[in-house]
This record gives sequence, C-alpha cells and structure tokens, in this order.
Amino acid sequence: MLNGARARGASVGLVPTMGALHDGHLSLIRRARPENGLVVVSIFVNPTQFGPSEDLQLYPRDLERDRALAEAAGADVVFSPSVEEIYPEAYSTWVEVYDLATGLCGASRPGHFRGVCTVVAKLINICRPERAYFGQKDAQQLAVVKRMVRDLNLGVDIVSCPTVREPDGLAMSSRNARLSAQERAQSTALYRALRAAEESVRRGERDAAALKDAARSVLAGAGLGKIDYVEIVRADDLSAVTTVMGECLIAVAVWFDSTRLIDNIVVLG
Ligand code: PAJ
Repeated sequence: MLNGARARGASVGLVPTMGALHDGHLSLIRRARPENGLVVVSIFVNPTQFGPSEDLQLYPRDLERDRALAEAAGADVVFSPSVEEIYPEAYSTWVEVYDLATGLCGASRPGHFRGVCTVVAKLINICRPERAYFGQKDAQQLAVVKRMVRDLNLGVDIVSCPTVREPDGLAMSSRNARLSAQERAQSTALYRALRAAEESVRRGERDAAALKDAARSVLAGAGLGKIDYVEIVRADDLSAVTTVMGECLIAVAVWFDSTRLIDNIVVLG
C-alpha cells in the first residue's frame, strides 16, 4: 500500500504512537492529513523504552478503539506490529543519541531514549515517510529525534505539533487516567507553574534560578512533594542555561505516587 501510494506520487506522513489515543495524538494525525497523500499511524507499545520498574505491563492497550479513532482523524493505514516483528530473536542493533538524551527525563529514565530512537529509526525505515509528526509535549523526545534524523541522514522532515491540553491546562497524556481525584486536582499545578515562570520572563526576569524558584513554589503550594526536576534549557540542544536568552524550554516532571507527569513551555528571552 505504501509503495503503491509512493508510485502514485503521494507523500507519506508517519505519526508514531504507543496507542491509548487521546486528543493530543489525534491532533498530530489531523495535522498530517492535509500535508500528505497517505497518513500512517503506528501503534506499538515499545518495550525497549520502558525501564525495568516502569509501567510497561500497565500500559493501556485497546487496538480496536485506537484504530477507529485514528481512522476518524484521517489515518489511511494503522500499523500495529508485534514485538517479534520489531525485535526478532537475537536483535542486536541500537541507536543512541548522546548529550541531549542524558539530562531531564534521560536522567531518571536511563536507556529510555535509546529505546525511543531505535524504534523511531526502525519505523522510519519501514514506512519511509516524507514527514513524521511529534508532539511538543515530549520536548526532549522531539529534540533527540531531530538530532538522530540529522546525524543519521534519515531524510525525513520532523514536524513538531503544539501540546494539547485539558480545559484546566493539564497536558493530555494516557497516564492522566491513573491519577486519583485528589492528584488530578493537584496536577493542574504543572501548567500553572510553567505559566508563572513564563509570566516572570515576560516581566523581565532572565535569571534561570529565580524562574525555577517561581515554578517550584507553585508546585509546592499545590502540595506536590516529589518533584523530579524543574529545568530551563536551550530549546535546540537542551543545554542548561543560567540566563534565559533566545528560545528556551522550561520543563517540569513531577511524581504522583508511581505516575510521573511531564510538561514544558517555550519562552523567548
Ligand atoms: P506516545 O506517548 O503515544 O505519544 C505519541 C506522540 O503523541 C508523541 O509525539 C507525543 O509527543 C505526542 N503527544 C502525546 N501527548 C500529547 C499532547 N498532549 N499534545 C500533543 N502531542 C502529544 O511518544 C511516544 O508515544 C513514543 O515514545 C514513540 C515516539 C511512539 C516511540 O515509541
């Protein structure tokens, strides 16, 4: 089907996902639809990007529901390979991006981005799309994938799509469903913390430590004790900054019991 589409001159757009589709994922598919002749949505819960103590087994799976949602949003093909198809016996090749993958989420999830890069490189090689769509919600993933595509000449345009949020600001995530009612109420603090720091930049604050304090105090005020990180980095190479200059990313990660939520916002200094 993909080769037929290419022979007709249709471009291929790939939207890689792990399923449990929500409006964030669907926004990527809707974006890809008018930009490509053929839209492929991959649904694969990639075991190699989960750490040993992470939630691989708990990850929600409902292929029929996801297929219907993906098609309604504009997917032509839903590609849902088995683990054995992607990682056949004696699988032994890995793609690893250094530097960008070590800070932020990489620090608390060793090996995570190696798993992400390996599977994304394979999906790109299988589907050979002109464009692949990723959400700004996972800003580090986006930066790491862009770097991999450049470094390995994968020849695909990586299209970044804005974060889709619940009406109260919480970034949509399949993990949100695991929050208790109380945690769900507290979780709005992530975006409020980012907005407070953004507002502070707008008023002229450029000192990263002061901005991080402003964000942390919103998180603490909501009773969020287990902050994984509050960081300010350059948007392109994710290097830490002490002064906000140019395009920077303010990124937070917070634990709610065993569920970890992340969010970020881009500011211009
Ligand atoms: P998954 O978490 O299913 O996300 C698939 C894509 O949807 C990613 O590009 C992610 O950034 C985007 N996305 C998720 N929530 C979003 C939101 N609220 N707004 C906008 N986009 C959002 O990310 C992965 O899967 C995997 O790591 C994958 C890239 C598929 C490799 O296994």
